[in-house]
Amino acid sequence: MFPIRILILAKEQAARQERLGLKSNKAKEKKARRLEERAAMDAICAKVDAANKLDDPLAAFPAFKKYDRNGLNLEIECKRVTALNPLAVEWAFELTRTNMQTMYEQSEWGWKEREKREEMNDERAWYLLARDGDSNPLAFSHFRFDVECGEEVLYCYEVQLESKVRRKGLGKFLIQILQLIANSTQMKKVMLTVFKHNHGAYQFFREALQFEIDETSPSMSGCCGDDCSYEILSRRTKHGEASAGHTHGGGHCGGCCH
Ligand SMILES: CC(C)(COP(=O)(O)OP(=O)(O)OC[C@H]1O[C@@H](n2cnc3c(N)ncnc32)[C@H](O)[C@@H]1OP(=O)(O)O)[C@@H](O)C(=O)NCCC(=O)NCCS
Repeated sequence: MFPIRILILAKEQAARQERLGLKSNKAKEKKARRLEERAAMDAICAKVDAANKLDDPLAAFPAFKKYDRNGLNLEIECKRVTALNPLAVEWAFELTRTNMQTMYEQSEWGWKEREKREEMNDERAWYLLARDGDSNPLAFSHFRFDVECGEEVLYCYEVQLESKVRRKGLGKFLIQILQLIANSTQMKKVMLTVFKHNHGAYQFFREALQFEIDETSPSMSGCCGDDCSYEILSRRTKHGEASAGHTHGGGHCGGCCH
């Protein structure tokens, strides 16, 4: 017979080994999860990088390079900001100021001219530009390929039309192009931010184009709810439909590929 003390020591040792075993299993699982998340994020960033390397995301859709409806006959091009004539970017800035300055001043953000100019000239910016037969620009959209809350997205920073070309279907056409580009580059959704007090634009996106309030919008996440003067809207692409509700990246919001 073993003395009782030896039996106790043996039991304690077995328990210790079991605990260590469990611990190392948990550590292994945690490491595997980390590696999986890292690989998923690398794949997302690779898609964003590939989209950003395109020469012309609209090249595959020549039918969308013209807008010949409702009395408008326009050419549409898609370029990186770095490939645009700086005068065209300055025109885009001035149009944004004309259309939006008051809206910004009515919000918690205020109108910050220097920051807006920097944003519009940022080298990640892409532009859709609609010009008439004399090459005069009349409408544009500034967009970017980016990662938002662990998903690859096409973020529409601006869609701005001169007043004389509004309500002729052009805004809808430009957003359709963004949806098409988002699909063809395998982004999960088209996103944008809209002021709640920009009633025309709000109706345009929510009712005419069926954008939804994104789950990251303040009114959905509950961070500042009714006090916020804006909503984040989105529309999923066919790639995004499948993965709705399954985001990677541990809740980190904001671009992360750069
Ligand atoms: C918002 C904007 C992009 C819409 O573009 P648009 O070419 O005028 O709109 P469309 O002709 O494609 O409109 C499609 C539908 O959207 C809805 N819509 C568009 N503008 C609207 C408005 N001001 N009020 C209510 N509904 C509107 C209508 O249902 C419209 O269809 P209908 O004309 O047959 O009634 C354009 O008016 C604009 O540049 N506004 C100033 C800048 C701005 O607010 N940009 C958005 C920032 S988030």
